[in-house]
Amino acid sequence: MATPHIAAEPGDFAPAVLMPGDPKRAERMAGLILDQPRLVTDVRGIMGFTGHYNGIGEHHGKPLSIMASGMGMPSIGIYATELFREFGVERIIRVGTAGGISPAVSIGDVVVGIGAHTTSSMNELRIPGTHFSAVADFTMAAAAVQAAGPNPVFVGTVISEDHFYFSIPGQLDAMVAHGVLAVEMEAACLYGVAAEHGKAGLGIFTISDHLTKKGQDMTALERETRFQDALGLAVAAAFA
Ligand code: HPA
Repeated sequence: MATPHIAAEPGDFAPAVLMPGDPKRAERMAGLILDQPRLVTDVRGIMGFTGHYNGIGEHHGKPLSIMASGMGMPSIGIYATELFREFGVERIIRVGTAGGISPAVSIGDVVVGIGAHTTSSMNELRIPGTHFSAVADFTMAAAAVQAAGPNPVFVGTVISEDHFYFSIPGQLDAMVAHGVLAVEMEAACLYGVAAEHGKAGLGIFTISDHLTKKGQDMTALERETRFQDALGLAVAAAFA
């Protein structure tokens, strides 16, 4: 049965959903890695596709879904909750972009976010009196890192912010000092919603801009290549 934000039937989603923020990117990803992708929902233009993975190897032909999350924690929280509760989804892998914070990461690098700090209050009320730990699913994170093989991948914490255009004085320096790799806007909520439902969440990010190292840029080709690197890791996590 359809939910308020997903116009699909229960069997329409695969057990694993790859989740970029941008619906157009979801559509491009589906065209790239799914055989005969079927549009299963597009409420508010948030497109979701299901098909069979077209890559070579042991996972060829397995069902896989790709659906956009929109931007920000409330948005991903709505879609993740409805997918976990009503559509039999077990795993959601966010495949997104993030802004570099640590000087160790550069534009184009891929980050596996095993934990997500947040400025949001969305996880604050989950366990009364407790600072909730928003962590990724270990099995999926390990599979993603293993799939990187000899290619460099950064594994560590990100911060999930509510504001894109806002900075708290001193915050950036403290983030660098605490080894935070990158900033984005969804992971902490995804990890919280996954924990709430006994399901699995993971965020894999391509660094698209950098907050502390200026003057870097990527060509369109590099951007697409590096994005596809992240996509390969996400597929490995989906089938882990
Ligand atoms: N801030 C928040 N989210 C982001 C950024 C950023 O700088 N870059 C990509 N996603």
